[in-house]
Amino acid sequence: MATSSSDPLLLPMPCRELPRTGWRASRLTVGGVKWDSHIPEAEAVALLRRAMDLGVNTFDTARGYGKGESERRLGLAIRGRRQDLFLSTKTTERSRDGALRDLDASVEALGADVIDLIYVHALDDEEDLRKVLGRDSVLDALREAREAGRIRFLGVSGHWFKDSMETLIREADLDAILLPVGLFNRAYGYSYFDAVVPAARERGMAVLGMKVFGAGRVKHAASIEPYLRYSLHQDVDSLVIGCDSIAQLEASVRAVKCEPPPLRDAELPGLEAEALAITRSWDKGEFDWVRHYR
Ligand SMILES: NC(=O)c1ccc[n+]([C@@H]2O[C@H](COP(=O)([O-])OP(=O)(O)OC[C@H]3O[C@@H](n4cnc5c(N)ncnc54)[C@H](OP(=O)(O)O)[C@@H]3O)[C@@H](O)[C@H]2O)c1
Repeated sequence: MATSSSDPLLLPMPCRELPRTGWRASRLTVGGVKWDSHIPEAEAVALLRRAMDLGVNTFDTARGYGKGESERRLGLAIRGRRQDLFLSTKTTERSRDGALRDLDASVEALGADVIDLIYVHALDDEEDLRKVLGRDSVLDALREAREAGRIRFLGVSGHWFKDSMETLIREADLDAILLPVGLFNRAYGYSYFDAVVPAARERGMAVLGMKVFGAGRVKHAASIEPYLRYSLHQDVDSLVIGCDSIAQLEASVRAVKCEPPPLRDAELPGLEAEALAITRSWDKGEFDWVRHYR
């Protein structure tokens, strides 16, 4: 909670326009993995409302988070405030019919007639890409929904199949991507900034970034601040962060509202060493990145 007039929490939230959408998004988007079922409903709703009060105007969830629970809780939190917010969700369905069923369920859970952005969730390997680009696919469903005015924008999210993602954004007319942009990712040498982000920018797409805190690895770091500073100064419009308490949320909001400068070159080697050491000792966690890439 803000306690004095010098508290950075009282500063305005920095915003940046999401290309193609016309939406001035808060530099932080609050993501919905951790408030699906890891915390009680009332805490989740309070966390989301606190985020809105602090100037967060962009929220990210997915049909799959907590089997719809994340969407439902976001739906509770946005009542009366929908018009001031940009909402994204995701579908892991790859068929047209499956994606349309997911869309119906998302609309009901969120209680929002129109969803701003839906991502093809977690794009995987070449086989997955073929399904997404195939006939009667999720893309057909989302395009139909966009034409019908049920959703406004289409995107794709992914964690580590950057070649598939680059192909998809070259072959399909998408509006946004969500991909890893964290210092942890840089430390293990798998970056989307080489080719995927430039390809998206050539097409004027919005770029949203996740894994800012390495899916929680940051709690073993000396401070969250350099990790936020690193990602804030990449070519990303809004950082989608996870948090499961108001204290975690406020720590990130406070850091971002201070508009910190980029990391200095001299700071990077020590931070990369810290990120790698944490990742090496990470006990499986959400993703065993080292096993994938080293
Ligand atoms: N499209 C996709 O395929 C996809 C995949 C994953 C995530 N996402 C989106 O991205 C969002 C963020 O997920 P992420 O995986 O990228 O997570 P992240 O933001 O890199 O890490 C979030 C975790 O970092 C820890 N944390 C946050 N603030 C902290 C603080 N002040 N001090 C100490 N620890 C702190 C918490 O871990 P603890 O909970 O352990 O305390 C929190 O749950 C998700 O909610 C979701 O919206 C999308």
